[in-house]
Parts: sequence; C-alpha cells; structure tokens
Amino acid sequence: MNELAGKHIVLGLSGGVACYKAAELCRQLIKEGATVQVVMTQAAEQFITPVTMQALSGRTVYGSQWDAREPNNMPHINLSREADAILVAPCSADFIARLVQGRADELLSLLCLARPLQRVPLLLAPAMNREMWAHPATQRNLVQVAQDGAVILGVGSGDQACGETGDGRMLEPEELVEELVAFFAPKVLAGRKVLITAGPTFEALDPVRGITNLSSGKMGFAIARAAREAGADVTVVAGPVHVPTPRGVQRVNVQSALEMQAAVERHLQSASVFIATAAVADWRPAHASSQKIKKDGSGDAPTLAFVENPDILAAAAKSRQALEGHLFCVGFAAESHDLLAHATAKRVRKGVPLLVGNIGPATFGQDDNALLLVDSEGHRELPRASKRVLAKQLIEDIASRLPR
Ligand code: CTP
Repeated sequence: MNELAGKHIVLGLSGGVACYKAAELCRQLIKEGATVQVVMTQAAEQFITPVTMQALSGRTVYGSQWDAREPNNMPHINLSREADAILVAPCSADFIARLVQGRADELLSLLCLARPLQRVPLLLAPAMNREMWAHPATQRNLVQVAQDGAVILGVGSGDQACGETGDGRMLEPEELVEELVAFFAPKVLAGRKVLITAGPTFEALDPVRGITNLSSGKMGFAIARAAREAGADVTVVAGPVHVPTPRGVQRVNVQSALEMQAAVERHLQSASVFIATAAVADWRPAHASSQKIKKDGSGDAPTLAFVENPDILAAAAKSRQALEGHLFCVGFAAESHDLLAHATAKRVRKGVPLLVGNIGPATFGQDDNALLLVDSEGHRELPRASKRVLAKQLIEDIASRLPR
C-alpha cells in the first residue's frame, strides 16, 4: 500500500544473528515505498555482507566514517541530515551501551550522535540473548537511551539462536514495518481509550454446534490498528475470528453475545470512544444443551426456541458516560439493501451520534469495502477502498468529532 512513500530511512545494522532478518526488513521497507540507506558496523559485516544489503536497498552501503565517497568526507553529517528516521535493527546490547555513552568511534554510533535530535528520530530494535536482555546493565541503558530521545521498539519472545528461550529476539520484519508506519502516523487520538467489538458471535446450541455469521473481523481489526497508530490505547473484544492482533492492541477473545457484553462492560468504564463493528447475533438458543443433540430416529427436526440477545451498542449509548458526553459511540450496520434508509433509521434507534453503513454480503471476508457515514446532519460516503485505508479515514473522522 506504499505506507512509507516519501520516507527516507537510514537502516543501521549492528552485530547480531538477527542481521539475517534485516535483509527482509530492507526489502519490506522498500516495498512500502521508502528509500533505504544501509549503514553497517564492522560487527554486522560478520553476520551478513554489505553486498546483500546493497542489492536489496539499491544503494551502496556505508560502513566507515572515513568513506571517501562523500565530497565533504562527512558521511555522519550527510546521512543523518537526509533521514526521516534512523532505524537500528538489529540493535545489539553493545550498541545500546555505545549510544548511552555517546560514543563516536565508528560510523553508525557517530551518525546517531550527530543527528539533529528534534528532527531525526532514532528507533531501536534490540536483539540479544535473554540473559543479556534481562541484565541490569542493559535495562539501565535502555532507560537512559529512551530518556535521551530514542524510541525502543521492544523485543519478541521465543526460541533464540543460542538455543535458549525467552525475551530478546528482534521483532519480525513485518512487525518493525508496522511499528514504523505507526510511528509516522498523526497522533489524532493521543491520550484516548478506544474500545472496539469485532467479528461475529457464536451462540452454542450444544457442545459441537452453534449459530454464527460470516463476519470476518477484518474491518474491526483494521480500525483497531488505525486507532493505535493514531496514539490511542486500544482494546478489541473479538468474537471467533482468525485475524492477527495488530501490534500494541489489547485483545479479549469471546464467543457469545453475553460474553461480549460482559467484556465490553468491563472495559467501557475507562473508554472515551466505543466502536461496535461486531456482527452480534440477534438471538441465542433459549437452552443450550450440555450434550450433543442426537437424532431420535423419528425423522423430525428438533424444535429450537430463541431469546433475544442484549443490544450492546444501544446499552453503551444510554450509559451515563455517553449521555454526559464522555463516551463517543459509533455503530455499524451491515445491510443487504436500502443502505441509506436503514442506516439512518438504525442510528436513531441505537441512539448513537455516528453510524457507519456497509453492504454486508459485499464485504464479509473481503479486504475492501465502501462505507456510508450517517450522522444527525446527513451522510457522507467513503468510496470503495481497502479496509486499511477506510479504517484510517474513519479514525480521522471520529477524532474530528471528539471534544477537545
Ligand atoms: N449491536 C450490538 N449488540 C447487538 C446487536 C447489534 O452491539 N445485540 C451493534 C452492532 O455491533 C452494530 C449495530 O449494533 O454496531 C447494528 O447492528 P445490526 O445487527 O445491524 O443491528 P440490529 O439492531 O440487529 O438491526 P437489524 O434489525 O438490521 O438486525
């Protein structure tokens, strides 16, 4: 989607096995539209060759502060001034210690020190053995570099090259790209707590069967990602869906509408925005059987009785927080026809200031959608685009409606 179009990234590699991931990271940054200038320490060159990084970035790699290619012989100044961000991935324990001390005896730490602090952000993707990561010296250094203005992107957990298991793995290339995209996004929801419901609900008939629908959860999760990028603290209450959780988003998994309602009630207290994208089942079986319902041999189908589920959105819209203007509620409507008329009526019925309409069968499971935003003034269309693009537009729209 070219999410990093126009961005020039200095990708710094310090020494660590995770250098092998930096090759894929470089490729993905370029795929997202960034230009990438690779700078490697001598230790990094023990793990991966500059030839690989040059081929992937399409630029010769810098490795020395004495590089005579620069007319003024100051690569540390030239490279850092051109960058929209410096991303050090992998960032070794030693390199973090060097940053803390303001060392400048090799090109990468020199250009980090020489960068204009206010204009060129420094992002670090640490990578090291779990004991090195947990060591008080490393933890102390991390606090210090963060205080000095660096952004620590965190580490993954799992199997390590040394054979041990724990914290300290470098984040995966796609996670780092997601972090970088989030870093550049305007923080229109800074300081807000956003609660989102997503996906279908599953209403059990017996231990092996139930009633559900075709909602994929993709729109809700795309909105969660966009809200987090915009600086919000985001929680998604998700029905049974197979969608990965965006980075930095808290996820609560539920099955039924009643479970979804309980989870929403728990998190609504502190929320300032509630976006109900879930396709909640309107009814649930009156009695879920604790044992599998068997054929009785008569040829007759069992008679099923249903009771109506609580309306989670309507209840939130009637809460004191919402009525006093501290909670902004947004509803979704998945319709099959007459979208504007149904969405307009549904907005009033649910008591929400904004209702987002879409045609259910045309979007369930798809990666794109078209949205109709209905409020008390009228309506506005967000034309067909990827759910990712629509989510960003919707978040911008919602942010503009919030009290300052
Ligand atoms: N919703 C909810 N709880 C329910 C039903 C719906 O929170 N029990 C929310 C949905 O998440 C969505 C909005 O209400 O934001 C509209 O959902 P929809 O199923 O279209 O509305 P219904 O009231 O069920 O209307 P319909 O008669 O079209 O089924």
